[in-house]
Amino acid sequence: MKNVLVTGGAGYIGSHTCVELLNSGYNVISIDNYSNSVPESINRVNKITGKKIISFNCDVRDKDRLFEIFSKYDIYCVIHFAALKAVGESVKDPLSYYDNNIFGIINLLEVMKKFNVKKMIFSSSATVYGDNKVPYLEDMNTGNVTNPYGRTKYFSEQILSDLYYSDKDWRILLLRYFNPIGAHESGMIGEDPNGIPNNIMPFISRVAIGRLPKLTIFGNDYDTPDGTCIRDYIHVVDLALGHVKAIGKIDDSKSGVLDCFNLGTGKGNSVLELVNTFERVNNCKVNYEIGNRRSGDVASCYANVEKAKRDLGWETKYDLERMCKDTWRFQLNNPNGYKN
Ligand code: NAD
Ligand code: UFG
Repeated sequence: MKNVLVTGGAGYIGSHTCVELLNSGYNVISIDNYSNSVPESINRVNKITGKKIISFNCDVRDKDRLFEIFSKYDIYCVIHFAALKAVGESVKDPLSYYDNNIFGIINLLEVMKKFNVKKMIFSSSATVYGDNKVPYLEDMNTGNVTNPYGRTKYFSEQILSDLYYSDKDWRILLLRYFNPIGAHESGMIGEDPNGIPNNIMPFISRVAIGRLPKLTIFGNDYDTPDGTCIRDYIHVVDLALGHVKAIGKIDDSKSGVLDCFNLGTGKGNSVLELVNTFERVNNCKVNYEIGNRRSGDVASCYANVEKAKRDLGWETKYDLERMCKDTWRFQLNNPNGYKN
């Protein structure tokens, strides 16, 4: 069985990807420093799948520990999720973002190189497109990013492409995620951010359950049909399955490869549509008010997903209603998140 090393395996997207990897017959080794997650999510992945992740409390910046892990296991491929991801925090504390996200990936790649593990799937983001014309296409200009978090994604993509051009044995896939929401259908794993959520969906579900008083919708004066921003919301399980397809693509390539793929649905929904859908399918109330625009937000962001369809044989299955229902099931089963 192939060993896939997942960094950030206890996190939101990481834990859902671990489920799909285990279900597809891979062995999973997770390393996570639990800076934005808890080991309980790993226990739950084990329960969902009836299999066992080998998990380490380890920081990707800790080279000695990475050496130990790479010495012990024959790693086939690495999926690198571990990163800090709060845009606002990255503006206030850029150095910790560059330290965690940039030093982290360099450290990891150095150890991979040392152990001749040259297969890497990287969590990138639609944020690298900046404010381009929608729908975003993989060959559009990137790098016009407005915050330090986004720049860590852009720089990581550059580091990975420089590495590939220095040694074309590397097989590197950059996956640019759009807006992951939703949860596993079991209601056992989902998104459980520390503190007040930055992203919209955990905010909505915490308002609906009464943990937060009110959602502020950031602006209704955008040039969109209802004035609120448009995003490409993708079910986290569809996103997770995209990673399994990406490993398949790496398996199939006869030689080295560097490529990037948008992982989205290709459809945009407005913030108001998301709130209204959540209320309707879950028969609940989401108190909200309209506030000012949030700095750095673009009016519309959605993907062209033809390349992922064609080259990965991947497309999304779940619609916005399903995303809202699955989020609510996780919230109801875990009113206080993983801290129950
Ligand atoms: P998350 O915070 O839930 O997961 C990240 C995990 O990495 C956490 O478990 C955290 O504890 C761990 N981690 C962070 N720094 C670490 C370090 N130095 N060493 C070891 N572990 C570390 O976030 P997520 O939403 O699952 O995001 C996963 C990846 O996808 C991130 O790279 C993120 O930037 C990227 N991404 C996320 C979104 C989104 O909207 N969620 C969109 C685009 C890209
Ligand atoms: N929004 C609100 N109120 C909130 C939170 C968000 O109205 O309390 C709105 C935002 O203005 C935006 C939409 O909801 O229009 C989505 O916002 P999120 O913060 O959930 O997501 P973003 O689109 O800003 O960014 C997310 C990730 C980034 C990633 C990007 C890729 O946080 O890491 O998707 O598209 F880069």
